[in-house]
Amino acid sequence: DWSMKDYAVTAVEQIKKTVGDGKVLLALSGGVDSSVAAALLERAVGDRLTCIFVDHGLMRKNEGDEVEQVFGHGKINFIRVNAADRFLGRLQGVSDPERKRKIIGEEFIRVFEDEGRKIGKVDFLAQGTIYPDVVESGVGEAAVIKSHHNVGGLPAVVDFKGLIEPLRMLFKDEVRALGEQLGLPEFLVWRQPFPGPGLAIRVLGEITEEKLSILRDADAIFREEISNAGLARSINQYFAVLTGMRSVGVMGDGRTYDYTLALRGVTTTDFMTADWAKIPYDVLEKVSGRIINEVRGINRIVYDITSKPPATIEWE
Ligand code: XMP
Repeated sequence: DWSMKDYAVTAVEQIKKTVGDGKVLLALSGGVDSSVAAALLERAVGDRLTCIFVDHGLMRKNEGDEVEQVFGHGKINFIRVNAADRFLGRLQGVSDPERKRKIIGEEFIRVFEDEGRKIGKVDFLAQGTIYPDVVESGVGEAAVIKSHHNVGGLPAVVDFKGLIEPLRMLFKDEVRALGEQLGLPEFLVWRQPFPGPGLAIRVLGEITEEKLSILRDADAIFREEISNAGLARSINQYFAVLTGMRSVGVMGDGRTYDYTLALRGVTTTDFMTADWAKIPYDVLEKVSGRIINEVRGINRIVYDITSKPPATIEWE
């Protein structure tokens, strides 16, 4: 992609000019945006970039390790903070969706600050903000209906000279093209959106380690089968939700009383409105069969057939 090649060259030059011989700190989530920002910054400032990856223990299956594999071996200083205990501790007993989001947003800033203090002086803070974030965060519907925490609430790092947002003018498809241009692996560049609060808002109600583990396994199967069916790029977002509901089932000779899992898949261009994805029945059948057989604790699976509006994409 020629235009993105030019963009990369120009952006790298601009970052070099701004940063001089200063140090840059980036909060890396492992999502497309912050990953592309990290790759761009690595080209511009090399080992004067430090990336802090806060693993809040609410990632999907193997996700934390995958991020570490990509960024933990390059020139940049990569710090993974395993903060699951901190997050889960604060979330204990909390079932209100908005409170979950607030707690996670606040705790994220705290962990980031604590870690930032350890690494000492940095001159610039970088963020993977993209154009739709800029537009949405002030006036957008998403900001009002559910509190997002990607923009704003910047941690107060020492000696902070400015903010670097190299993707601020780009749309999502351009960010992906840039990521490919910079040589990032496909699974990162084509990763579907994943909310900042992670699986905390996909385990409905109170979060426990057990529920998280059930959800992770079920969600991994769903994603694997969507990918096997060749649908990974045509369904814009797809994931599993662990409802707090239990129902009666039968397994072998026995009665079960286990969780109901919901599958969600949507097609959308801007995530402000979305249609439920018409996943072929045979794919749903395969997913359902595998989850029931492979994941303990689930005895019923439903597919969400509501569009946005009236539903939102996430269940919380
Ligand atoms: P909803 O559920 O509002 O989601 O239809 C729209 C899109 O936003 C994502 N989402 C979030 N992303 N922090 C984020 O970074 C959040 O708190 C958050 N809540 C929802 C959601 O996954 C979907 O892509």
